[in-house]
Amino acid sequence: MNDYAEEIKIAHAIAFYENDALVGEMTVALVAEGQRILQIFRFSEDDAEHVAALATLARFPNSAHVLDIGCGVGAVAEIMHALRPDLSFTLQNCSAAQLALCQDFPKIHGDMEAIDAPDGAFDGVMANYAMGHADLQPFLREAARVLRPGGVFFAYDLTTLNVRGFAEALGYVPYVPEDVVRAARAAGFAETESVELPQACISSFWRAGCAAMPERAGVALKAMPIAYRFVREGPQMAAGGQQA
Ligand SMILES: C[S@@+](CC[C@H](N)C(=O)[O-])C[C@H]1O[C@@H](n2cnc3c(N)ncnc32)[C@H](O)[C@@H]1O
Repeated sequence: MNDYAEEIKIAHAIAFYENDALVGEMTVALVAEGQRILQIFRFSEDDAEHVAALATLARFPNSAHVLDIGCGVGAVAEIMHALRPDLSFTLQNCSAAQLALCQDFPKIHGDMEAIDAPDGAFDGVMANYAMGHADLQPFLREAARVLRPGGVFFAYDLTTLNVRGFAEALGYVPYVPEDVVRAARAAGFAETESVELPQACISSFWRAGCAAMPERAGVALKAMPIAYRFVREGPQMAAGGQQA
């Protein structure tokens, strides 16, 4: 397992989430430009097509109550709910300013390493471009804690062949898949899948953001999109993630 302590320290120092007024200001500007999904790689520039691809990878159980960790402005949950009205969502974010921009789903404010929810409260958890803001093992333990046995964890994320240099440029840690899977097993997940996704392309959100900082674009090109799907240890699950 790589030691990410230094990377996480750097990422936290660079990411500006402690200044929520600034996060709010930047997010309002992005939303005004039509950017509601804050992700570097996408399957389609069309929000509904992209989220449909994520929903297919996540395979949340029927009628699942899903916690969206690091939810941004809640666009992924909102669109996934339109595609899968059987799912219900609760949004989690350390940014009160972003939560205020989200639709009317239940909301949990705070750090993803200490989620204000009881054990086993959710049937599904998703973390889209969020896991790299947290310390891997405590984050996965917390995600496992709030999932019921048999519940599904889904992360759409970044990975890279060489983790060094990322935190400085992006304020984000692209964890190595083997480390994520090992940490997931230690956190109490049984079925652990990771899928690399070369068919996803750099988003217009990211291209626009890099216009002023071209070095960021170069760093992102060394990364690739990846999805993880884990099942919380517990009763056997049937295909599609439904309780057997
Ligand atoms: C790159 S954005 C992704 C947003 C959203 N999931 C999406 O796909 O559009 C990362 C999100 O994680 C949130 N975040 C960052 N650090 C966090 C933390 N420690 N606890 C909870 N949320 C955090 C940010 O406020 C932001 O909403």
